[in-house]
Amino acid sequence: MVIYFQYMAKGKAKAKSKLSPKASRRVATSGDIEVSTYLEIAKEISGEQPAAAKEAVPSGEREAIIVIDFGSQYSLLIARRVRECQVYCELVSADTPWEKIAPLNPKGFILSGGPGSVYQDNAPMTPAYIYESRLPVLGICYGMQVITHQMGGQVAPGAKREYGHALLHLGGVESPLFTNVPQSTPVWMSHGDKIEAMPPDFNVLAYTDNSPFAAIGNDKNIFGLQFHPEVVHTPEGKTILKNFVYRICGCQGNWTMGNFITDSLAKIQQEVGKGKVISALSGGVDSAVVSTVIHRAIGDQITCIFVNHGMLRREEVERTFNTFRLNMGMNIVYVDASDRFLERLKGVTDPETKRKIIGEEFINVFEDEAKKIGKVDFLAQGTLYPDVIESASSGSTAAAKIKSHHNVGGLPSRMTLKLLEPLRYLFKDEVRQVGLELGLPEEMVWRQPFPGPGLSIRIIGEVTKEKLEILRAADWVVMNEIKKAKLYRQLWQSFAILTDVHSVGVMGDYRTYGYLVAVRAVTSDDAMTADWSRLPYDVLARISNRIVNEVPEVNRVVYDITSKPPSTIEWE
Ligand code: XMP
Repeated sequence: MVIYFQYMAKGKAKAKSKLSPKASRRVATSGDIEVSTYLEIAKEISGEQPAAAKEAVPSGEREAIIVIDFGSQYSLLIARRVRECQVYCELVSADTPWEKIAPLNPKGFILSGGPGSVYQDNAPMTPAYIYESRLPVLGICYGMQVITHQMGGQVAPGAKREYGHALLHLGGVESPLFTNVPQSTPVWMSHGDKIEAMPPDFNVLAYTDNSPFAAIGNDKNIFGLQFHPEVVHTPEGKTILKNFVYRICGCQGNWTMGNFITDSLAKIQQEVGKGKVISALSGGVDSAVVSTVIHRAIGDQITCIFVNHGMLRREEVERTFNTFRLNMGMNIVYVDASDRFLERLKGVTDPETKRKIIGEEFINVFEDEAKKIGKVDFLAQGTLYPDVIESASSGSTAAAKIKSHHNVGGLPSRMTLKLLEPLRYLFKDEVRQVGLELGLPEEMVWRQPFPGPGLSIRIIGEVTKEKLEILRAADWVVMNEIKKAKLYRQLWQSFAILTDVHSVGVMGDYRTYGYLVAVRAVTSDDAMTADWSRLPYDVLARISNRIVNEVPEVNRVVYDITSKPPSTIEWE
């Protein structure tokens, strides 16, 4: 997750000034967040930027669909949908020069939606090379309006914003874009401006009650859709996109994870040569997959460093270690640094200070171990495509948020390593598939996100050995029951929190004064927002019963029924 690092390079002084506990109140991050966070920040000290990818598309007949990003919240989703059709797809901004796109061998373009209006000053337009290429073009929403505007039609502000479901009826001219799509089908609309007159030589392909030009096209394979085929609310959206990439652009569909692995192995071997690589293993998906794919390519030239900071869950160390050392035969340096971390956390209650200490200490330990390995050339990182896009497109905003979230500062690091980022063109679901194809256990591949500072931010107040044990026992029950109820994958995260509240209870003839444990289970797509999960009562009952029976220090269990916002997912 490379975003913070870019931010730091640009605005280091600013980032450091954010470290006061109040100013650095956490904000959301997305995806699965691993120890790599710390490493990135360490890397930043050496001032190195991740190298741009040289090759991303698997071999065979090279092909790609290029999405021009006009700023829609759904742009990345379009790219994902195309990849789900097994066609490689990249998202680029409207000012990307042709020279950068040509090597990908584009077979067609998709123009995304966007918040703007074609009549605004500086409204982004389709670059001329797209029309000059004579390749097929599919404009979605704003993308359609741009086509209309540039090709001589008329766009006008809609009287009212059309938002939500509409019923699309095929009509007018028949088009391969709608092959296998029913005559009438629901679609998702979200637009302000609308098409008043089509450009010359365009035909209506479909309409809705409100939009006479819901889908248009000409005989040069230029199409416009007023609705969003990429969202789940358009059930036939995937068929339409599939028609576009296969029937209209003539793609072969060679983007499979099997191909990706074959190609990656060759590329990693070429890039690394006889060099040495280190990676930080955490047990999370990204670090697991990145380490495994590199190991498959270069064997023992990679060493994984697994730092146990003492804030991990029950059996986490054993499971991770066994998977990689015993099953995969990888070179692992395991460091149990729990005491070192606990010592530094003594008396610390402020959440952000906990994060900062753990971050610093992590780098210290990692560096010490890396030095023992001798000369190392590369640091492996689990950077994913959404990170690459975010850092490229959103300036420092998102990065700034995440940086303050992780809040690791004042790091001593002199690591002068090149970055090796074999997953930087993959989406999370693709990473999971790669993991499965490489033989990683499902349990690891489908692991819920777990924060870098681990259980320390789920213990309210000071972290002690005793409290860690209590929380581990309670968390074990939650995980166990959620898995037994087959709810684990549906939930973004589910876990226990050890509060600093004690309350009175009764056990047999005795009054008790025990800990209050909170249970949190949320659904989410990206951790930016989250809803508390309506867990079945009987699952909650089993969790509560088992915790108070199996963890003697706990006599009360509550369930957190707040969403994010206004709460966060973690309690600290
Ligand atoms: P919140 O609690 O802000 O969390 O809603 C959003 C996501 O980020 C994870 N999280 C962290 N991950 N270091 C991490 O690596 C952290 O300090 C940290 N704090 C929160 C959290 O588990 C959720 O997935």
